Amino acid sequence: MTLVLDPAAQDLLFREARTANTFTADPVTDEQLQAIYDLVKYAPTAFNQQPLRVVLVRSAEGRERLVQHMAEGNRPKTSTAPLVAILAADNEFHEELPAQFPAFPQAKDAFFAERPVREKSAALNAALQVGYFIIGVRAAGLAAGPMTGFDADGINKEFFADGEHSVLAVVNIGKPGADAWYPRNPRLAYDQVVTTV
Ligand SMILES: Cc1cc2nc3c(=O)[nH]c(=O)nc-3n(C[C@H](O)[C@H](O)[C@H](O)COP(=O)(O)O)c2cc1C
Repeated sequence: MTLVLDPAAQDLLFREARTANTFTADPVTDEQLQAIYDLVKYAPTAFNQQPLRVVLVRSAEGRERLVQHMAEGNRPKTSTAPLVAILAADNEFHEELPAQFPAFPQAKDAFFAERPVREKSAALNAALQVGYFIIGVRAAGLAAGPMTGFDADGINKEFFADGEHSVLAVVNIGKPGADAWYPRNPRLAYDQVVTTV
């Protein structure tokens, strides 16, 4: 009663949503990805910096180039998922800031002139956007299988030769297949997580 979001939507996004490890052959379309992005783009980032960049791996050749950098245990599902997305932080996000945060266009030079500062900010804010993206995939009635088990330097060299991006996660996307998930693990209780001062 306290939450205002429709209970069915709560289940779809959180309680019944699971991390999928197998998928059906049903394709995931560009239209679905566009709808997911056009929903989650409204979620907040610092200075509205939006550092997340997404590479959809659709070709067989791209899939092969990616899978070789995945940890052994992540390879079968990354090879067979209907769609795989590489989610990365753009460490040069500040170039877009004057347009994306017009209330304070000086932020680009005042706060983000230094690359190490940008990297730190991009890592946090793009990671937030990874979370929003996963929930967006669920909102489309699909399952996500996020992974960080990979050789990040290898993926960065393979897909981001400009040196301006840092991979954060690789996400398998599709309809859950047979035996798609491991048993549900417990979650920390409110009292284990929340303190009040
Ligand atoms: C950022 C991130 C990285 C993860 N990396 C991997 C991974 O490399 N391989 C894997 O099999 N699962 C990976 N997982 C899946 C988690 O273990 C899974 O989401 C978590 O246990 C919750 O599972 P549930 O949604 O089925 O309850 C990752 C999940 C997240 C969010």
